[in-house]
Amino acid sequence: GPARVWLDGRRERAALDRRLFGSFVEHLGRCVYTGIFEPGHPAADEHGFRRDVEELVDELGVTLVRYPGGNFVSGYRWEDGIGPREERPRRLDLAWRSVETNQVGTDDFLGWAERNRLAPMMAVNLGTRGVQAAADLVEYCNLPAGTHWSDLRRQHGRDAPYDVRLWCLGNEMDGPWQIGAKTATDYGRLAAEAGKAMKLVDPTLELVACGSSNHTMPTFGFWESEVLEHAWDVVDHISMHAYYEEVDGDRRSFLASGADMDSFIDGVAATIDAVAARKHSSKRIGIAFDEWNVWYQRRFNDEGLPRITEAGRLLEDDYSALDAVVVGDLLISLLNHADRVRIACQAQLVNVIAPIRTEANGGAWRQPTFHPFAAVTAAARGVVLATEVECATVATDRYGEVPTVTAAATLDPEAGAWSVFLTNRSASPTAVHLEQRGLPTAHRLSARTLTADASSVSDTVFTAADVSPGPGGALSVVLPAESWTVLEASCDAVDAA
Ligand code: AHR
Repeated sequence: GPARVWLDGRRERAALDRRLFGSFVEHLGRCVYTGIFEPGHPAADEHGFRRDVEELVDELGVTLVRYPGGNFVSGYRWEDGIGPREERPRRLDLAWRSVETNQVGTDDFLGWAERNRLAPMMAVNLGTRGVQAAADLVEYCNLPAGTHWSDLRRQHGRDAPYDVRLWCLGNEMDGPWQIGAKTATDYGRLAAEAGKAMKLVDPTLELVACGSSNHTMPTFGFWESEVLEHAWDVVDHISMHAYYEEVDGDRRSFLASGADMDSFIDGVAATIDAVAARKHSSKRIGIAFDEWNVWYQRRFNDEGLPRITEAGRLLEDDYSALDAVVVGDLLISLLNHADRVRIACQAQLVNVIAPIRTEANGGAWRQPTFHPFAAVTAAARGVVLATEVECATVATDRYGEVPTVTAAATLDPEAGAWSVFLTNRSASPTAVHLEQRGLPTAHRLSARTLTADASSVSDTVFTAADVSPGPGGALSVVLPAESWTVLEASCDAVDAA
């Protein structure tokens, strides 16, 4: 029989925190230089930032941007990136073996974010630096005036504080590749002390401690528990990172990446709960899934140590329609965990494993993975509903039996609009009945689908999905094989009258 998706307007999972639709700009390859920033480009504004890229970022619907790394931040001296550009040093960045010209730094990035209405999520260096440099950076960004760093910011032409709320306490500090990697105990203590100092500068900060770099790390679980043991009182979120790729042609497992993301989130949430129970604490530590995406990491690792370049072509993955379907399914997983995951960043924004690509002195364009992200930011509003799916399973080599169909739904009670996002992981078309209860009557329905078999980039743009009325007010949708679908229902007053 058909798969069934149960939608109930009265069963809320969580209010939708729009910080779930974040992205990431790292000083890596061409994300910053010839990505968002290219003075002299015909589309550059007076600050040197590309307007053509800004238009695509706006269309993508990104709400928040993490900066400046990533692995890069663990060797970064933030003071190099402020003040007159001609005086900024050219440094060797060890994370990506690149020459960092520092032509973009804190003021440049925060100005760009502000002009584009993007909330910044800043990271401090807890690899080669520590408490003092972190507190100084908060002072530079957030204190109004009258102290060394705040006055220096004003001297550099920025009077008003930037008011950066969200801060990452380092990056992937468990990773052996990280410059200044630490043990869980050493990092937990450092995060607690750096966080304490940062909150003494500005008590309104929201702090994110590093979780494991990925859940295949040998210390996964122990790491989260130990870090939270030390930093519980000072941090507000713990991070998660996950990248997926098709390995050795195992398409079925790749299409099930969202199932892996589901269990990864459940595992971290359970670890948070275990620490809370042990500490008799009612504090709710959130999850910041601040790096997630499809990344053909094996290809990158096979290339070995990169030779030293300046704004070289690093991690410039070309995505397919299949990757777009997986990205859509990962977004469904994030939405369905909106009660725990309040912040998420697709890594990254431009050129580096990114939905947007550019050429120096050339154009800017969308990759296939752009489309599901833009569709979700446009259609997901209000609250995330607790959706139930009843369907067959598909056997995968990596993740065992996983559901063939996944679904997430949001409801905007004020606008009377609701949206459903659906993936069909199966290699055959699947009929789905959407059984609804307590949802506003839809006067207008739009349903679009993208399929993994599209061969070229332009083919991945949505086609109309096959929806028809089913029994008892239900809707019937046929999901093509290996596809991702967005269904939007609205009942605006004009239509209702
Ligand atoms: O996003 C690319 C890299 O992946 C980041 O620098 C690092 O944090 C992660 O390993």
